[in-house]
Amino acid sequence: MSPQPSATDLRAPAQPAPATGARDGDEPSSGGGPATMTRRSFLRRVGIGTATAFVLADTALAYRAYDQGVLAEEDGPAFDAWDTWRDGTDASSLIGAAVLAASAHNTQPWVFAVSDRQIDLYADPARSTGANDALGRELDVSLGCALENLQLAARARGHLTEITTAPGGAPDLVASIRLRPGTAVDGELHRAIGDRHSNRSAYRPDPVPSSALTAMQGLVDDDVAPARVVWLTGTRERERFGELLVEATRAHVADDEQSRDSFAWWRSDWDTIQRRKDGLTIDGVGLRPVVRTLGKLLPATSREDADRTFVDRTVVQTRSAPAFGIIVVDDPTSRRDRLAGGRLVQRLHLWTAAHDLGFQHMNQITERIDRDHQLGRVATFESPLAELVGDGALVAFRVGTPTVAARRSPRRPAAEVVR
Ligand SMILES: Cc1cc2nc3c(=O)[nH]c(=O)nc-3n(C[C@H](O)[C@H](O)[C@H](O)COP(=O)(O)O)c2cc1C
Repeated sequence: MSPQPSATDLRAPAQPAPATGARDGDEPSSGGGPATMTRRSFLRRVGIGTATAFVLADTALAYRAYDQGVLAEEDGPAFDAWDTWRDGTDASSLIGAAVLAASAHNTQPWVFAVSDRQIDLYADPARSTGANDALGRELDVSLGCALENLQLAARARGHLTEITTAPGGAPDLVASIRLRPGTAVDGELHRAIGDRHSNRSAYRPDPVPSSALTAMQGLVDDDVAPARVVWLTGTRERERFGELLVEATRAHVADDEQSRDSFAWWRSDWDTIQRRKDGLTIDGVGLRPVVRTLGKLLPATSREDADRTFVDRTVVQTRSAPAFGIIVVDDPTSRRDRLAGGRLVQRLHLWTAAHDLGFQHMNQITERIDRDHQLGRVATFESPLAELVGDGALVAFRVGTPTVAARRSPRRPAAEVVR
């Protein structure tokens, strides 16, 4: 039987840690009483009659449902960008496609300057994930993902592009994209931009067909040089990579700063999601619909609970990974190489979206390596990783057939990211 998320998934965020949930066997609390108390024990203690209790509990639940957006999933201004990304053909319209790219913790660390014939892409260092991206690699890779979407959209709307990465000048200027009139080329990767989501559910055990691996391998070209992909599909190597991911996750949660810096990007109520339009939400965890809805009704969890479930989820995700991919570059510390790697990983992710496969970035190992370097310690994960994939590992992911459909994550629209 294929693995399914269990009841413990209620407490199970995927990327960093934070999630909503209760201990196994707990009954949901209304959120109105003390956090440690179950709803039933709370009502019992205050001595409310059963009928009254039901009315009050229903009211509290209804409020929580409203607060969590249970009734309006994937709706509201935080999700509009997914419906409007195809609008327009001029330079500024391309930003709508760029903002739908993947980014670490959904930080969306980008700012764009747009003129008729040129778009400049800037990093927004204030949107770093701190100790989780100690040397800035994931910020650059995220910008590479946006660059890939931007170029696909430009081509589809009849623009020829000339991209200069790390052009110098302003320190945060990451890439300049010059546009010239050309013939529109609308391929499957472009068409998949609005369907690409991170899928953090358990995957079925079936292997990824070799035709799919070959097709994805075919996406590596000169535009993304020197980035390439190393696949881990054999049982032993997958198990070893999974073990390293779980160990790195344990090290992550044991590191107070990493844990806090992850939790800072967790968005647990509907209002905050609509206002901030970024970060990670329970919709992104990959839970079955009924479990997800229940999870939204429970009170927000503590960082410590969330950390525990981050480890639990990683165990589920690694055990159910029929293939891992690692993007490798010549120099993972170079901004150019990181951007190229970001472009390639976004391409692969778009391809899986076009072919009904699930895709999840999984970067705990390199996050720990960078963190150790930042603190001047021996990077304990460096040699085991190199033994598996060689030198130059930049970012990693898993691919497979998901057990639960992925959902939209919030996005700041173009108007909020153009200077
Ligand atoms: C550089 C980078 C690193 C990421 N690392 C992880 C990770 O370790 N685990 C994970 O579940 N998702 C990871 N993600 C996925 C993001 O969390 C995801 O793209 C973001 O939340 C937006 O959601 P979406 O991909 O569904 O649009 C990463 C994405 C990028 C670009």
